Amino acid sequence: MSRIVYVNGDYVPEEDAKISVFDRGFLFADGVYEVTSVLDGKLIDFEGHARRLARSLGELEMAAPVTDDELLAIHRELIARNDLTEGMIYLQVTRGAADRDFAYPKDAAPSLVLFTQSKTLADSPVAKTGMRVISIPDQRWARRDIKTVQLLYPSMGKMMAKAAGVDDAWMVEDGFVTEGTSNNAYIVTRDGTIVTRHLTTEILHGITRAAVLRFAKEAQMQVEERPFTIEEAQHAAEAFITSASTFVMPVVEVDGVKVGTGQVGPIATRLREIYLEESRKAAL
Ligand code: PDD
Repeated sequence: MSRIVYVNGDYVPEEDAKISVFDRGFLFADGVYEVTSVLDGKLIDFEGHARRLARSLGELEMAAPVTDDELLAIHRELIARNDLTEGMIYLQVTRGAADRDFAYPKDAAPSLVLFTQSKTLADSPVAKTGMRVISIPDQRWARRDIKTVQLLYPSMGKMMAKAAGVDDAWMVEDGFVTEGTSNNAYIVTRDGTIVTRHLTTEILHGITRAAVLRFAKEAQMQVEERPFTIEEAQHAAEAFITSASTFVMPVVEVDGVKVGTGQVGPIATRLREIYLEESRKAAL
């Protein structure tokens, strides 16, 4: 079934959705993106994603193609036109089409593309069994706080995980976990403290991360923002990841070693419940 896709002001069948071969997103990965989840036909944490998009654009001196209100209207129109009840909306802004040149063009009009992906998110079976991860070196560029479309190394990481027969990879730099290939990484220590890496240019500032840490603190859970090692994760009580498409997802094995009991733990389970409940309430 053909989807309706948004391309630079038009809603078109996906077969007709086209971008120039000179688009700098295609030639230089000169673009940024956001993934916003949809539950019950409503957007989860739209404002957080819009804010981060504005920041990514600002860091790359790119103009915003539309206002936040227009962006919300486009998201809602795509949900309606595609009859989306659960899944994701992918959004990409590139610097636009210009003759190939490493220097940014001054006058290119940014390209804006959005499309929907229908997917069961809330009742994911993996949330009940947990994921298994391996560690790999973090070989991405150093500005991981900008959500750019240059995702080749994360793709290679997912393939390394697949080849190892597991679900995902956690990336390690200078002995410490940075994040997952497309998610933020956490452990729960044996005394119940939730630990996740602090925010710098070394990781993406996850929108789900911000919400989950807020909910954890509101529920009187202990939170520590600091780096942790793979060895610490292997000796932790629990581990989990967060992202817009997985919410809170338990991790039960790291590099072949069971985390805690090797089963999905109570804190990840509770945080997933709180996140889903609160996000549904605040959905737009
Ligand atoms: N990925 N870290 C990385 C490297 C990511 O790519 C993502 C999101 C996150 C989590 O951020 P958020 O909670 O805002 O989704 C962390 C999206 C889902 C993706 O690429 O599909």
